Amino acid sequence: MSTTSHAAEVRNEIAEVAALATSAEHLMTEMTKILHQRMTRYNWVGFYMLERAAGEEPMLALGAFQGAMTPHTRIPLNQGICGAAASSGKTVVVDDVSSDSRYLACSIETKSEIVVPIFAGGEVAGELDIDSHFHAAFTAEDRALVEYCAQLVGNLLEQKRA
Ligand code: SME
Repeated sequence: MSTTSHAAEVRNEIAEVAALATSAEHLMTEMTKILHQRMTRYNWVGFYMLERAAGEEPMLALGAFQGAMTPHTRIPLNQGICGAAASSGKTVVVDDVSSDSRYLACSIETKSEIVVPIFAGGEVAGELDIDSHFHAAFTAEDRALVEYCAQLVGNLLEQKRA
């Protein structure tokens, strides 16, 4: 019997794609596809990238995603679970979105959510957001997988800046 967990298999698949990725954009697109397809409780998977324009409020802009179109294509840092993760620089896991007043609804089916910041050069550059139709879908193992994905993207973004 195999002792490798499903999440560990998916992590290996993503590591292989990351090793061959030619750009952060390419990696983000492939990652959303793999996570959405292979992690069956990940019903919406997408990136928001932080835009900082001089004289304008910083904004999270929707990037590569898989799942239904969301009404939230641009999110200010003081709004939503997405804003909370980006402004604190910390992973946010919400087991029951209906009991979190910060939550901005994307789909009425969403029950739980995880948002993991992406760092490049020591600063938040964006985040990976995943919604599930299942209550408390994100375990410690899921969190480790999603944080690993965010780190791979951060590494590529840093290479681009270097
Ligand atoms: N639920 C997020 C908004 C993004 S959608 O889930 C895709 C939030 O509360 O920030």
